[in-house]
Amino acid sequence: MEKKETQRDQWGSRFGFILAAIGSAVGLGNIWRFPYMAYENGGGAFLVPYFFALLTAGIPLLVLEMGLGHKMRGSAPLSFRKIKEKYETLGWWTVLITFVVTVYYSVIIAWAVSFVFFAFKQSWGAKPDEFFFGEYLKMTNFWKIGGIRFNVLASLALVWGLNYLILFKGIKEGIEKASKIFMPLLAVLVVLITVRGITLPGAIEGINHFLEPDFSVLKDPSVWVSAYGQVFFTLSLGFGIMIAYASYLPKKSDVVNNAFITAFGNSGFSFLAGIAIFGVLGYMAQSQGVAFKEVVTSGIGLAFIAFPKAINLLPGFNGLFGALFFLCLVVSGLSSTISLIESFSSSIMDKFQMTRKKAVTIVCGLGFLGSAIFATGMGLVILDVVDHFLNNYGLAVVGLVECILLGYFWGLPNIKKHVNGISDFKVGVWWNIAIKSVTIPILTIMLAFKFKAEV
Ligand code: PHE
Ligand code: NA
Repeated sequence: MEKKETQRDQWGSRFGFILAAIGSAVGLGNIWRFPYMAYENGGGAFLVPYFFALLTAGIPLLVLEMGLGHKMRGSAPLSFRKIKEKYETLGWWTVLITFVVTVYYSVIIAWAVSFVFFAFKQSWGAKPDEFFFGEYLKMTNFWKIGGIRFNVLASLALVWGLNYLILFKGIKEGIEKASKIFMPLLAVLVVLITVRGITLPGAIEGINHFLEPDFSVLKDPSVWVSAYGQVFFTLSLGFGIMIAYASYLPKKSDVVNNAFITAFGNSGFSFLAGIAIFGVLGYMAQSQGVAFKEVVTSGIGLAFIAFPKAINLLPGFNGLFGALFFLCLVVSGLSSTISLIESFSSSIMDKFQMTRKKAVTIVCGLGFLGSAIFATGMGLVILDVVDHFLNNYGLAVVGLVECILLGYFWGLPNIKKHVNGISDFKVGVWWNIAIKSVTIPILTIMLAFKFKAEV
C-alpha cells in the first residue's frame, strides 16, 4: 500500500496543475453557453448573480473537490471509499455520468475539427443549416481539403486519437505538457477573435445586447437558478474531475489559492468570448438589416449554423477568422475532454490496480465507439436528449449528494483542516456556510425548478 502511494503520478509544477484545471473549466460552456445566458438573463446585470454564485457555491465546491482529492489521493470512487466504504457508489455514479458526457462532448469537438477545414473556403455553401444536417452528418460523404480526405468519422478518430496520445503519457508528460501548449494558444486565439469581433461594423450594437444591464431581472428567481447552473457546469463540478486532478498534486499545495485562480481565469475567458461572439452577431444583424433577436442563438445552432452564416458575410480574411474560431472550440474542447477521460480512467486505475496505458486504451476505445453512434444525423436526437438530462439533472443530483454527504455525514471540518494546513490563503466559516446553507438549498431549488418545467 505504501508503495502504491509513492508511485502515484504527479504534476511537475503548480502552474501546470492550474493550466490543466483552467483547461478543464474553459470549454463550450464559456463560448456558446455563457454569453447567451447573460443575454437572456439581464445582460450585464447577470454578472451579479453569476459572481454571487461563483463566490457562494462555485469556489467553495472547487475547494471541497480539490481538498477531497488531495487529502485522499484518489479519483472520485477511491476518495469517497476512503471516507466510508459504501460511499464508493457515489463516486462510480459520478464518473459514469462523466464518461457519457465525454462521449458526446467529443462528438461536438470532432464537428469543430471538420469546420476548421471547411472555414477556409466556406465549404458549407450558402445554406449552412442544410449543409450541417443534410450533408455533413452523413458518414458516406467525404471532403477533400488540402489533399486530405475526411468525413465526420475521420474527425472523430482524430479527436479520440489525440485524447489517447495525451492521456497515455500520463499527468506530467501528457496532460501537463498538452495544457502548456493548449492554454497559451487558446489565450492568443480568443484575443485575436475578440479584436476582430469588436472592430466589425455593428459590433458595438451586439455587445450592448450582451452587456446592457437590466437590473429588474434580479427579482426573478429563475435568473439566479440559471447563474448557479452555469457556474457548476463551467467549473466542471460534480464530474470527479477536480478530485482526480488534485489527487496528483504534491503533498504541500495551496489548494485554496489554486481554486480561486482557476475560477477567475475561467470567468475572464467567458467574458472575452461573450464580447467576441456578440460582436460578430451584431455585425450579422446589421449587415442583413434584421433585428438582433433574429440572429442570436446558442449551442450547436450558434457554432455550426449561425457562425458559418456570419463567416460567409464577413469582410476580408473571413476564412482565416472562421478557422481561428473553430480552432478555439477545438482547443478549449480538447482540454476539457482530457479532464473528463482522466476522471473516468483514473477511477479504473485506482480500483483495479490497472496500468495507465491499459486503462486509457480501454476507455478511449469504448469512448470512440460510443461517440461514433452519436456522430451521425440519427445520433443527434439522442445527443439532444442525453444533453438535456445530464445538464439538468446529472450535475445537480451529484453535486447535491456530494455536498450532503460531505457536509452532514463526514466532515467538512476534516477537509477544511486539511486544506488550511497546506494553503497560505485559508478558508473560514464562510466556507461551511456556503456549502451547507447556500449550495445545498440552491441545488435543491434548482432540481425542483427543472422538475417543474418538465411536467
Ligand atoms: N467546463 C466545461 C465547459 O464549460 C464543460 C465541462 C463540464 C467540461 C464537465 C468537463 C467536464 O464547457
Ligand atoms: Na468553462
